[in-house]
Amino acid sequence: MNKREVISGENAKVTDSEYEHLNKLNLAGWLEHHQQNVVFDKVSWMGIPTWKNVLDLWIYQELIFKVRPDILVEMGSFKGGSTLYLAHLMENIGHGRIVTVDIDHTNFIVSHDRIMTLTGSTQDPEVITQIKNICADARVMIIHDADHRKDMVLADLYTYADIVSEDSYFIVEDGVVDLFPRQTLLGGALGGPGPLPAIREFLENDRRFVVDRDCERYQLSYNPNGYLKRICG
Ligand SMILES: C[S@@+](CC[C@H](N)C(=O)[O-])C[C@H]1O[C@@H](n2cnc3c(N)ncnc32)[C@H](O)[C@@H]1O
Repeated sequence: MNKREVISGENAKVTDSEYEHLNKLNLAGWLEHHQQNVVFDKVSWMGIPTWKNVLDLWIYQELIFKVRPDILVEMGSFKGGSTLYLAHLMENIGHGRIVTVDIDHTNFIVSHDRIMTLTGSTQDPEVITQIKNICADARVMIIHDADHRKDMVLADLYTYADIVSEDSYFIVEDGVVDLFPRQTLLGGALGGPGPLPAIREFLENDRRFVVDRDCERYQLSYNPNGYLKRICG
């Protein structure tokens, strides 16, 4: 038994043998650990709960800096942690606004000059019209984190693909659930097919978009095949 100890946090002691155990986790083990113990109550941005894998958030930072969207449409707001994170990125580059859509904004607890909320379903005709009006003639990026069931994701992809600008992205989150067996925590999250088969079906029918696999370079992404780059008009 290795006796060497490391002091961490509030006097917690972690032995080398515990680290050796952790080092044997594979990527799937890490993702299940993250889903069970981290994502829903231990990720926050400026104190606001944020249901994200932070390795994906880093990629969002890179894409926003590179694309400089005028409008970022966020589908699925929840408490607003991700919305505020995106607003702060835009504040830092001095450009862009976020339109965040949710069927229910009673949980939403953030406000910022760059954030506008829209309440309703992404498939509500009034919401669709409002988003399309706001995005007319703008450089647009979309992050989809709303209803993750296959049919809804596919409907949202077909409804909103046109407004994504060339060289910008339609990010479809949480396809990771489709990579795990149904009896696991991640695989059982939806109880049916999710974003990944929707993405695949969409890409067969819309050749303007390709998967930018470089955005998955950290490997531990919740968005496999989910960084859709528009390559032509
Ligand atoms: C995973 S949470 C969003 C988390 C948030 N983006 C974050 O990272 O902290 C999904 C949200 O989508 C909303 N939602 C579900 N179906 C929707 C729909 N059809 N249209 C708009 N929002 C929807 C839910 O109310 C919920 O707040």
